[in-house]
Amino acid sequence: MASRITSGARLCVRASIDKLVCNLTRSRHHSAVSASGGTAVGPRLDRTLPSYQKQWNRIRSDHQRNHCRRFTTLQDTDTDSLPSIDPYRLLDDDLRDVYTDIRQELELNTNQDELRTIATYYFDGQGKALRPMVAILMAHAINYHMNNNGLDKKQKEVAMIAEMIHSASLIHDDVIDQSDFRRGKPSVNALWSHKKVAMAGDYILAVTSMMIARLNHNDVTITLSQIITDLVQGEFMQLGSKETENERFAHYLTKTYRKTASLLANSVKAEAMLAGADDKLVDVSFEYGRNIGLAFQLVDDLLDFVSSKDAMGKPTAADLKLGLATAPVLFACEKYPELNAMIMRRFQEPGDAERAFELVHKSQGLEQTRFLAKKHCLEATRLAGKIAESPYQKSLLVVPDLIVNRMK
Ligand code: FPP
Ligand code: MG
Repeated sequence: MASRITSGARLCVRASIDKLVCNLTRSRHHSAVSASGGTAVGPRLDRTLPSYQKQWNRIRSDHQRNHCRRFTTLQDTDTDSLPSIDPYRLLDDDLRDVYTDIRQELELNTNQDELRTIATYYFDGQGKALRPMVAILMAHAINYHMNNNGLDKKQKEVAMIAEMIHSASLIHDDVIDQSDFRRGKPSVNALWSHKKVAMAGDYILAVTSMMIARLNHNDVTITLSQIITDLVQGEFMQLGSKETENERFAHYLTKTYRKTASLLANSVKAEAMLAGADDKLVDVSFEYGRNIGLAFQLVDDLLDFVSSKDAMGKPTAADLKLGLATAPVLFACEKYPELNAMIMRRFQEPGDAERAFELVHKSQGLEQTRFLAKKHCLEATRLAGKIAESPYQKSLLVVPDLIVNRMK
């Protein structure tokens, strides 16, 4: 009885955190197809990080009392209830040609050999293909739910479009971050000039725009275009910082939605629209993508502190050097307020990045970041439960676990 009360209380606290996090990061995506076309993210700036942390402190002591589980690795153990299904294997046939087809689109639209080479450089099949995988999974799951026939050609193209927008943004990002390594090989900007690389990114976007136009579906066009608007705004937001802790956390979550989650959210939304789903089901798809997107970036920000270049195929411990205060640092501020000044000067003074790195590891920032990622994964699982049961829907239940327990 006692444990039931405890777990009930825990659920209640977690539900209020869900609500809080949801308020902070929710995008009224239906406005994406409204006249304004803007993504409204309405954070409550008066109760953000401290409110979250207060709740976290209560949960943490409850969690430790009940589970005695310490944060030692990224691996989680409570996966027993998940179906044993491998989404990538399930989609083997659908995913096999995605990269070949993308390369073909890029190659056919230019006679400039070098542009072709740069633009196709990241489409070598070495990426995780997370975005096409999730998009096609959602397309199949919704098709099954709606009694539609198999995957529509346009739905496969949305998966390609998602990966192309992602790669175009990475190409630009590598120039901005002056990164020298991605996916286990020299990054584009390490091999070609910034001018050529920037144009190759633009070229991918241009070909992607033609593909979007070919879908011939206005609402899908607006939804997919919203991704690009969000990506640019997210990256732009990352260049700035906020004065107070509250504003900073809200800024971080909005930036994270725009930079990462919008792509997953709007591409699965487009898949549902193409399936002819009603608004409610389109909403479920969008929210599923938004939640796994937020979780994905939170884990990425965490791995930057705990993983290695070899494991990730890209430099780690990079965010602080780039002046970025991500979730682990923002959480660590509670215990180590000296981090606030370092955040404001973007870790630019000698020793800042090293000291901040050390403080994050001494704090519970990593554990709290992972906890927040898990919250979003749980929400994604709950949403997938609203879709009719099928092997694809079961795979949607597995994806959040792949994201939260990923090592690269
Ligand atoms: C990777 O972030 C970057 C992104 C997810 C988005 C970058 C967006 C832009 C550069 C805006 C321009 C967009 C387009 C579509 C041209 P990261 O640096 O945190 O991750 P990393 O460690 O993988 O580099
Ligand atoms: Mg980068």
